[in-house]
Amino acid sequence: MCGIVGYVGARDAAPLILEGLRRLEYRGYDSAGLAVVTAGGRAAAASRDGEATAPPPAHQLVVRRDVGKLSNLERLLADQPVHGQIGIGHTRWATHGAPSARNAHPHVGMTGDVVVVHNGIVENYQDLRAELAAEGSVFNSETDTEVIAHLVERYLSGGIGLPEAVRLTLAHLQGAHGLVVLSSREPDKLVAARIGNAGGVTLGLGQGEMFVASDIPAILEHTRQMVFLESRQMAVVTRNGYQVQTLAGEPIVPDVHSIAWDPVAAEKGEYKHFMLKEIYEQARAVTDTIRGRADFEAGRVRLPELNLTAGLANRLQKLVIVACGTSAYSGQVGRALVERLARLPVEVDIASEFRYRDPLVGPDTAVLALTQSGETVDTLAAMEEARQKGAVLWSIVNAVGSQAMRVADGTITMQAGPEIGVASTKAFTTSIVDQYLLACLLGELRGTLTGAALRQAVDDLARLPDLVGRALERGAEIEPLARELMHTRHFLYLGRGPNVPIAYEGALKLKEISYIHAEGYAGGEMKHGPIALIDREMPVLAIATRGVIYDKMLSQVEQAKARGGLVVALATEGDTLIASRADRVLWVPAAPELLQPVVNVVPLQLLAYHIAVLRGCDVDQPRNLAKSVTVE
Ligand code: AGP
Repeated sequence: MCGIVGYVGARDAAPLILEGLRRLEYRGYDSAGLAVVTAGGRAAAASRDGEATAPPPAHQLVVRRDVGKLSNLERLLADQPVHGQIGIGHTRWATHGAPSARNAHPHVGMTGDVVVVHNGIVENYQDLRAELAAEGSVFNSETDTEVIAHLVERYLSGGIGLPEAVRLTLAHLQGAHGLVVLSSREPDKLVAARIGNAGGVTLGLGQGEMFVASDIPAILEHTRQMVFLESRQMAVVTRNGYQVQTLAGEPIVPDVHSIAWDPVAAEKGEYKHFMLKEIYEQARAVTDTIRGRADFEAGRVRLPELNLTAGLANRLQKLVIVACGTSAYSGQVGRALVERLARLPVEVDIASEFRYRDPLVGPDTAVLALTQSGETVDTLAAMEEARQKGAVLWSIVNAVGSQAMRVADGTITMQAGPEIGVASTKAFTTSIVDQYLLACLLGELRGTLTGAALRQAVDDLARLPDLVGRALERGAEIEPLARELMHTRHFLYLGRGPNVPIAYEGALKLKEISYIHAEGYAGGEMKHGPIALIDREMPVLAIATRGVIYDKMLSQVEQAKARGGLVVALATEGDTLIASRADRVLWVPAAPELLQPVVNVVPLQLLAYHIAVLRGCDVDQPRNLAKSVTVE
């Protein structure tokens, strides 16, 4: 989950790297640092005739690192500025070695002329440390990463060039890695490499300058032209361009992607937090997700990027949705959509479980990975497992160019725009819409959704942005309730049918940004145990919007009330019955039943947000979390 930024060009590197790291803050980190090659050394002494007599100034690698927020590194650089036109920077999410300045990246070897920034885990680092120490290496940090700098140095000191030294070093490393190496011995180039799924390595193509980053937002203000390294590829980057090759040394001509994202979209704008901005972007995001895919004239859905034929749609025996966290809850909503509209059996599996359970999938199975970042290591591993078993592999992804997009047979993008807040919001709602679109297309091709029913299903989508917008317009009603509940220590969220995953998601939002314990539960399960928890200290949030099992949810509300629980009902506008039973009500507009979950999650996102803000939590960078989980 670490953030990486590199620069080589005609401009001063440090400010550009720092700005890039700032745009990666959402990835979560506990320390940060950068290294720049300066002209360094003594300025060449001019002779009487003005010709320099002293040797040209040696190039020096200067490192600045600090623990804590990026602002600490900024202060350090203000006190001890460093200038040069090539450099690398890093924000660290600690895996091996506690957060500290000396464990912060970039890491240096023994001679001080090689630095490395790294995302991933060197799984065999203890053996490598022992081997290097036996040869005289002295380590400054407790990290696994430092061994990389020592290994590269060892090859450089043997007269090997930097690219080859990096290539030979990578052969020693076990695990998944994204890294960039810089040396004062060859101060005109960066060497970047990617092995496995430890987070992306992206090249940004500038005019007379080049960028390297772990994520698009870090460099998007400088260029939209990007190259994404695949696993087991490395790149040599200079100010005039780049060469990509496999780790076996074969040259590659990679695709250059033009990123359509608006750089401003990756900014907070007038919002206090990215999360709040992204919650309020959902009406537009849903519109963008639908645009060009729902053909309201013809009354059907088009997803050409999925490469789905009628033959395939009718050959499939089941769909398996794999994902993590919020994306997994989106998949649970998707199951209801696909089973209802396409009558195709659906399993939803946590990616970290799917990859180890020798899953029963094969050529007649489609495996759909849901992932906002497209880089979640468990989800990517689940995709590899599905690929090895011969399944059809699809993905629904927000981050264009991410690994989950590249390895799939077909991808539906979420079109949500960059999602920076660690707590996922607009990716959740747009990924449900994508699954709805998929369900409509599968239903049409399988003959289970035709004629007026298909047209109705497509027409229902047309109303969704407005319904989400109306739910957002009620946002002001939520802060008073948040103030009332902010000191609550436990919470129970209940839902039925496609609102069960909304209960899970509402609980997760509260947990991950306000640190209040919350559980999502199927309402019908209350009497099988959880109802023992209900008392005045355990508020219940009951998702009780109108639908086929509304009456059952109503009885859950009454059961909770009867035990003294404070009940907050999420209810359909105008439902006076539920309002007479519950203590508090969050109102949402009535939506078509299969799309109601998209509307229902909005007040739960806002409730979690306001409670977290009132509790003084770091909403965009919750403790212990990161935006993209690229380590296992
Ligand atoms: C959601 O708010 C969390 N940040 C987390 O559960 C997230 O959904 C999960 O890590 C999956 O991320 P992905 O969608 O990028 O794969």
